[in-house]
Amino acid sequence: MSSNPEISTDSPFVVEKDRLVKLQNTASFFTELRTIEPISSVYYPGPGLDDSLNDVFSPSEITYVDRTPHFTNITQGDFRTVNFPSGKFDAVFIQDIHEQPKDIVEFVRILRKNGILVYGLYGCGMESRGSTSFDHVHQMPSLREEELLKGWSKLFRTFRKV
Ligand SMILES: C[S@@+](CC[C@H](N)C(=O)[O-])C[C@H]1O[C@@H](n2cnc3c(N)ncnc32)[C@H](O)[C@@H]1O
Repeated sequence: MSSNPEISTDSPFVVEKDRLVKLQNTASFFTELRTIEPISSVYYPGPGLDDSLNDVFSPSEITYVDRTPHFTNITQGDFRTVNFPSGKFDAVFIQDIHEQPKDIVEFVRILRKNGILVYGLYGCGMESRGSTSFDHVHQMPSLREEELLKGWSKLFRTFRKV
């Protein structure tokens, strides 16, 4: 039995339901974000099974990169070695990819000025939700945290490239 009441290790149904809620939340969040920010190119490194951005963006607007592609419009590769031009994306979404500070440096490089880094707090179940430390993101001199959408900050934190 899991000691974390939010995560079940012995019921696949609960895990699937949890995943479905997560996908719905991500799609709702980005749908709202799009009403206030001009986003027509979004990068999602390490999506795994999470294809929720397909509900919000057209295929030509999304770039997914994962070592293991689980759906059709993913580029198979390592997000640490893929080389996009500086300022290519209006938004970058990262969630549960166990990133290192140097990864954040790269994600910020490929964001355009005033672009948005969205940091999803859903974990893989190995850590408690909301326990993520943002030190490595806050320490980026070109990023400023802004709460762009009220009520969402327990799930998604937003940072603007200044
Ligand atoms: C724990 S899953 C998280 C999936 C998704 N972001 C989510 O929140 O549901 C981590 C994913 O990142 C991918 N990944 C981790 N490091 C990677 C790397 N350096 N390059 C490409 N994909 C990577 C893994 O293959 C896996 O699909």
